[in-house]
Order: sequence, then structure tokens, then C-alpha cells
Amino acid sequence: MTSQEPGRPASLDDVKGWFPETDQRLFTWFLERQDQLGESGDLVELGSYLGKSAILMGRHLRDGETFTVCDLFDSDASDDPNRAEMARSYATLTRAAFEENYRAFHDRLPEIVQGPTSSILDHVQPESCRFVHVDASHLYEHVRGDIRAAQVMLRPGGVIVCDDYRSEHTPGVSAAVWEAVITGGLRPVCITPMKLYGTWGDSGPVQDDLLNWLEKQEDVWHEVQQVAGRRLVRVKKKRAKKPDKHKEKVRRLEERLAATEESLAETRHLLASVRGSVSFRVGRAVTALPRAMRGGRRR
Ligand SMILES: C[S@@+](CC[C@H](N)C(=O)[O-])C[C@H]1O[C@@H](n2cnc3c(N)ncnc32)[C@H](O)[C@@H]1O
Repeated sequence: MTSQEPGRPASLDDVKGWFPETDQRLFTWFLERQDQLGESGDLVELGSYLGKSAILMGRHLRDGETFTVCDLFDSDASDDPNRAEMARSYATLTRAAFEENYRAFHDRLPEIVQGPTSSILDHVQPESCRFVHVDASHLYEHVRGDIRAAQVMLRPGGVIVCDDYRSEHTPGVSAAVWEAVITGGLRPVCITPMKLYGTWGDSGPVQDDLLNWLEKQEDVWHEVQQVAGRRLVRVKKKRAKKPDKHKEKVRRLEERLAATEESLAETRHLLASVRGSVSFRVGRAVTALPRAMRGGRRR
């Protein structure tokens, strides 16, 4: 990924990062639902990069709540694999760039923990959060720790979102996430192509509400599957319908036919007016006279 265009971002689209539109819609839905149900608690993001998802999460912060983001930004990782990951994918990242982006949308910065996510429990109280986004290292050992920390930080019924749970280049995340589901009591609510949304509380009511909402969304596709005996909702953006090639060809031919008919009608009209003119009639008479005389001689 190239670095962000210079200048103050005006919309979330201007902020570089990895936060697809469907996930933006779902974050908003989950956070607004908590608001409507009066579920209070803090927000945490592990892995913020340039702030794309943090900026959206910050919009849902209410009075008395804290939003904490944790990222290495421009400091060093504690182990070689994580160092290599940072050098490969986030070499140009700085905390200043995150702060500048965040400030373009919010008056106040979140609490910033610049350091490894393994230190997050030194900064966030157990059972204090309603929403935790896990989106930092892709290494199994790290993600496993991040999911455990999320479980500690979340209140009963709180929501965890795990990024990159199925990408080809992140098998460590897949292993850690599904391990939490199979052996750690994490109940998936729904999945998108990029993220898994779950809870250690009862996933039933939130799934029912989600399905109700999804029924009304025209541009979002969904289906229900069973995984390890539990309901799981798959959500993704509806593909725009491909234009029917045959219909398109017929439409273009009809357009051309209509244009040809129009120009033919114009030509006919022009011809009729020329035929009716005095100069045309005189011209015809002049050419007709010698022809008549020649014809007369032949007889
Ligand atoms: C995929 S990016 C986050 C994307 C971001 N949430 C967005 O919306 O664009 C991953 C982030 O995790 C950070 N990171 C990687 N390993 C980390 C670690 N061990 N502790 C803290 N942050 C880490 C990187 O610096 C990077 O900013």
C-alpha cells in the first residue's frame, strides 16, 4: 500500500487503511445498537494504522466512555517476526500521521498506547469495554494474546471484531480466531469477507436483530450457515448486476436506427421543399425543353 496523499482528509475514503464499506456499515450497526439498548462501556482498538477504523469508532464514543487505541506506530516491535511484519507492511507509519488524521474528524484524540498490544491490560480495566477491534499483528501468538485480552476487557455481551480471520496471507489469525471459537467459548455472530464479529455472551438476540436489519438492506447480501452447531450469518456487499450484453446490443442498434430514421425524415423534408421551389421548377423546364426538341426531330 502506498502512503496517503498529503493533505487533510475530508472523508473516511481519503484515509488510507483496510476498512471495507460493508464493515463500516456493520461497525456502525453494532455500535448504534448498543447505544439504543443503553449498553455502555469503553471502546478499544488493537492496531490502528492511520486511523481509518478508529475514526469511525470514535464517532460512537459517548460521555463518560473512553476510547483506547494501541499500536506500535513508529516504535520497535519486541520480536523478529513482528519486526519483519512491521518493516514489510507499515514501514512509513508514524504516530503523528495517525493523530493528524484523527484530529481531522474529532476534537479530542483517543487514549493512545504506543507499544505492543501485549501490554494493553496494563491500560484497560477488565470488563470495562463494550466493543474491541482486534486488528494488529497477524502472527498466531500475538493474535491469540489479543483475543484473550479482548475477552478480559469486554463486559458480558460485549462485541469483539477480528480482522483478517480468513485471508490467504494471515493463517495465524485464522488459527487463533477459530481456536477461540472451538475451544474458547467465542460465539460468532457474523462474518464478512474480512472480519469476524463475535461475543462471549448470547449471540442469539444480536443475530435476530442483525437479520431483521439485513432483510431491509438492498445492497448487502446475506445467508445463514451452521458452524459447529451454531448459527453464523454471512454478510457481504451485493455485486452490482452485470449489464445483459444482448440487451445492450439491441438497445444500441435501436438507438442507431432511430437516428437514421430521423436523418432520413429530415432529408425527405428537404427534398420536398427543394422540389416545390421556383428555381427547381425553372431548372426542370430548362432541361426538359431541349429533350423535347430532340425527341421531336427524331420523329
Ligand atoms: C492492518 S493494520 C490496522 C488497520 C487499521 N485498523 C485500519 O482501519 O486501517 C495493523 C496495525 O497493527 C500494528 N501492529 C502490528 N503489530 C503490532 C503489535 N505487536 N502491537 C501493536 N501494534 C501492532 C501496525 O503498526 C499496524 O498499524
